[in-house]
Amino acid sequence: MRREDFPILEQQVNNYPLIYFDNAATTQKPNVVIQSLVDYYSTINSNIHRGIHSLSMLATMQFEEARENVKEFINAAHMYEIIFTKGTTDSINLVASSFAKQFLCEGSEVIITEMEHHSNIVPWQLACEEKKAILKVLPMDSHGNLHVEKLKDLITEKTKIISVTHVSNALGTINPIKEIVEIAHLYNIPVFVDGAQAVSHIPVDVQYLDCDFYAFSGHKMYAPMGIGVLYGKEKWLEKLPPYQGGGEMIEKVTFEKTTYGELPFKFEAGTPNVADVIGLNSAINYINEVGLRGIYDYEHQLLEYATEKLSEIKGLKLVGTADEKSAIISFNLNKIHPYDAGFLLDKYGIALRTGHHCAQPVMDRLGIDGTLRVSFALYNTKDEIDKLVEAILNVRAMLL
Ligand SMILES: Cc1ncc(COP(=O)(O)O)c(C=O)c1O
Repeated sequence: MRREDFPILEQQVNNYPLIYFDNAATTQKPNVVIQSLVDYYSTINSNIHRGIHSLSMLATMQFEEARENVKEFINAAHMYEIIFTKGTTDSINLVASSFAKQFLCEGSEVIITEMEHHSNIVPWQLACEEKKAILKVLPMDSHGNLHVEKLKDLITEKTKIISVTHVSNALGTINPIKEIVEIAHLYNIPVFVDGAQAVSHIPVDVQYLDCDFYAFSGHKMYAPMGIGVLYGKEKWLEKLPPYQGGGEMIEKVTFEKTTYGELPFKFEAGTPNVADVIGLNSAINYINEVGLRGIYDYEHQLLEYATEKLSEIKGLKLVGTADEKSAIISFNLNKIHPYDAGFLLDKYGIALRTGHHCAQPVMDRLGIDGTLRVSFALYNTKDEIDKLVEAILNVRAMLL
């Protein structure tokens, strides 16, 4: 699908055509996104919002157009509910820190799940440590399905927020966010959703999900690194104190007292990453043009094909076989260490991920050190999967 749009894929690595299966870590960038950065820096580059000159106004216009496009992309109700951040990690830290200041105190409880990326564990741990709050964990089964039926038992009158990933980066599980939100809202508890592995693979509608916060990174959706999004419902964003102080986020500053800007500027201190916001806009246009529904169907075909082919390999054990899965396959090969297999697969030009995937509690739960992980994007092909299978057989023969 649209492989020709991605110049990096034309190259050879170790004398083999590059097969890029590390898309959960970061996706490659299409020409239109690369070109939007070149255009920005060669014709517009300017600081935004306060400038009166033409370039500044143009940059401001494109920056705010991008916000509108993000709003449409995830179907938020208002543009001012879209905050630009550095990425998912930054978005989670923003909410964990501001939410803790306002709503957590000694004995408060925060619920996360057993399948979170470290980015959706550590910021909440820090917040809980600071406020002497308690971090509780919703477990999963050995296939990687969350025990959603146990959520009600975990919730108490002290529960202040639930934070859960939409798609597990280590296992590929798609979690039932709407159901989780419905349960949480019965108790008036807000839900934060880590959408890092979801937005470029499945259509996301934050109003349909009714989640209170939703975070994602540009670089996992064909946009540049260093740009991300935090969506928050107006009613929550209004209640949270600013995360960082500085220019852009103020209304009036005196030495005695500062008043803060309106949403979303209250959460966007300092000069923003204008070029990469424009790159993100261009990536969203690209995804829309290809069509997210079509991308989902195509990647799902790849997932099914690869699952079938990999399952046929003797000694290969799939890790993460949840009922609903996105385009991520984790596996182990006999007793071969994932690093050794990954190192040798690279010699065939195959880029995939090895290790704990920043989800050490998942590995602890499953009693393994790590996995090999293949993750798809719209430009991968069945032919690449066949080549992967062939290379795995060679690697296995070498190491066993
Ligand atoms: C599920 C999940 N959450 C959060 C992150 C962190 O994203 P970033 O490093 O772009 O902030 C990742 C990155 O792999 C992820 O997969």
